[in-house]
This record gives sequence, C-alpha cells and structure tokens, in this order.
Amino acid sequence: MPKDTVVKPVNVTCTAPVNIAVVKYWGKRNEGLILPINSSLSVTLHQDQLKTTTTVASCRSFQEDRIWLNGKEEDINHPRLQSCLREIRRLARKRRNDGDSSVDVGCLSHKVHICSVNNFPTAAGLASSAAGFACLVYTLAKVYGVDGELSGIARQGSGSACRSMYGGFVQWIMGEREDGKDSVAQQVEPESHWPDLRVLVLVASAERKPVGSTAGMQTSVETSSLLKHRAESVVPDRMKQMIEAVHKKDFATFAELTMRDSNQFHATCLDTFPPIFYLNTVSRHVISLVHQYNRHYGEARVAYTFDAGPNAVIYTLQQHVAEFLQVVRLVFPPDNNNGKTFLTGLQVEPVEISEELKNAICLEPMPKGISYIISTQAGPGPRVLEDPGQHLLGPDGLPKPDA
Ligand code: DP6
Repeated sequence: MPKDTVVKPVNVTCTAPVNIAVVKYWGKRNEGLILPINSSLSVTLHQDQLKTTTTVASCRSFQEDRIWLNGKEEDINHPRLQSCLREIRRLARKRRNDGDSSVDVGCLSHKVHICSVNNFPTAAGLASSAAGFACLVYTLAKVYGVDGELSGIARQGSGSACRSMYGGFVQWIMGEREDGKDSVAQQVEPESHWPDLRVLVLVASAERKPVGSTAGMQTSVETSSLLKHRAESVVPDRMKQMIEAVHKKDFATFAELTMRDSNQFHATCLDTFPPIFYLNTVSRHVISLVHQYNRHYGEARVAYTFDAGPNAVIYTLQQHVAEFLQVVRLVFPPDNNNGKTFLTGLQVEPVEISEELKNAICLEPMPKGISYIISTQAGPGPRVLEDPGQHLLGPDGLPKPDA
C-alpha cells in the first residue's frame, strides 16, 4: 500500500439534535451508569435550527485521543467522555469477535481526534450536552462500523442524550436492571406524526448561570421527599397519559400534562434543601401569559416547559403561532437596538391581535425580558453528512480554522 494512504485520517462527520422533555428526567439511582429514578419523554427539535456537528478522525499516526469543543481543546479524560469512548470500542470489539464483517478492524487500534460545534450559542441555555453526547456516540459508531441500539451508550455521556438518538417523540424507559442494560430510549412516534406541532424557544435574558443539572438533581435525590413521590407515584401514570396524547395528537391533554410536569419538576427544586431556583421573573411572566392566553380561549392552545434554567420552551400548533408570538411581543417588547433579529428559525407572518385579547392579557410589559426567540418544530434524529467539505478536522487531523 502506498505510504500516504496509510497515514491519512479516516473522517466521519455527523449531526445530532437537541431534545426538550415534556415529562422530565430529574434524579439518578446510579450516578456512574446514569440510571434515572423515573422514565421521561421528549420532543426532538429540528436540526435546521438547533444541532451539534461532530467530526471524528481516526488515524494510525495519532499519538493520543483528543477533543475540541466549540473551538477549544478540552480534557479527553473527562469520565463521561471516557465512558462513551470505552463503551463504543467495547461494542465494536464484541461485534468483531462475533464475526460482524462491517466493523472496521483497523480503526480499533487507532487513536481518535474529535471536533464538535453547536450551531446555537451556549448562552441560549439549551441542554447542549444532550445533542453533544448523542452526536459523539453516533459518529464514533459510524467510524467503527457499529449500529443498532446506541442510546444506552449516549446515556452514559449525559442522561438526556439518550433521547437525542431518535427523532420525533421519544421515551427514555428507566429500566430496572442494576447494570442499566434496559435503560434505553425508544421512539414513540416519528417527527412526521404531528406536522402541526410548533416549538418556540424563548431565550430569557439571564442574569447568572444556574446550578447545573447533574449537581442539582443529586441534591434533590438526597433531600426532596416530593421528588421521591413524583418518581414513584406521579410519573408512571403521566408517562402513559402522555404517550396516549402523542399517539392521538390530543394537544389539550399534551399541553396540560407538559405544564403540570414542568411545574412539578420546579416544585421539587424548591423542595430541595437548600432550594434551587431555575425560574426567574421572566419565566414566571411567561407562565402567567400562557395561562391568561389559554383562559381567554377557554382551551389549552399553548404550553410552556422549563428545564434547568429560565428559558421557556413553548409548544403550540401551527394555527396559533403567529397570534401567540404577537402577544409575546406585546408583553416583552423587543430591544430593537441589540442588532439581532428577535425571531429566528421558521418564519412567522405578523398578525393583528384583537382588542378583546389585548384586554385579556393583564401583565405589566417587561421590555428586553426575552432577548430572542427560536421558532422550530419536531425533527429527525442524528445523521451522517456525506460531503467531505463539511468535516471539521483538516487532513492534518486538527480543527479547520473556522471549526
Ligand atoms: C431538566 O441529562 O443534563 O433537562 O444526566 O447529569 O447529564 P445528566 O443530566 P442532564 O439532565 C437534564 C435534566 C432536564 C430534564 C430532561 O431533559 O429530562
């Protein structure tokens, strides 16, 4: 074989989506394996608006495994990163030993270089670890030629990452086994199932960085009796109801369960000792706005949910998006001088809102409370980018200047 073909890195580039839970995961029964105390369910958001892109290069000449995240080299020895690398390599070896010819035997002894970027600002406060670990595991699997069930490995990077391994509506089944083998994600419905469903991410102007999910949920497990009650007595039934609402595209039920679940999750945060506050005045204003809007129409047309931060994620239907956005603009007058567009993503034509609706919204306007909005929808799971021009690593195995 000519020498130059031997030392050239093999590059694979993939993208993976963000997901937003409507039945929340909060609390682990095993920290190392990342096994949850309850099942959860999420909607995978469309990668046209929010995604992680990861290139993995494998080469005989690489001296060590290395990783670059959003332009900066990070420590490859991070335990969760090591878990994902180890588990994928273990799976590849097992498949090879079982006689699977698609496993790339050469690659197995090589070191890898990993480069990953998000197309959304970390400041957006979105759970970037979910898309990041899903993308890492999916890309590594392609490099080594392994397929099949991979969500159990993504889970070991970050719990919520297992749900980003699929598109559409996804449940993470908590499982019962000590070794976690049955704690995996499953698609409930594909993204094409509910084409009218829309998602708005309302990015609140946050004052400070809140407590991270990993540390937050650990304290909740140790101190909150409400969390124990939630996991044992509330979530099992709620999961069944939510799955049925998704199957039937029953928005009113979906919306009520989503809001109740978000509220209960934040109640467990308040029941944590010392308490954790993720919601701020902007978040609480959004909650009131949604309830006033729904009350005006006598039905749930819009739902909110909040993760470990103040940003609201709104679920609604296509026919209500334009009007609801106009109401948001009324209550949170945008800062036109920040040089950024207030609404990004899927285009929404402005509409007039009625005087009755304006009168029904009794809230003091909060100028600049929301810095911008991402308009999106449900989308597909991870995918491979075939165009070599999209690799984030150059032929030397180092990040390209703009990666
Ligand atoms: C509030 O998956 O970020 O977003 O497993 O410790 O990495 P670790 O936590 P993470 O927790 C996400 C919590 C949540 C709810 C959810 O996505 O279900």
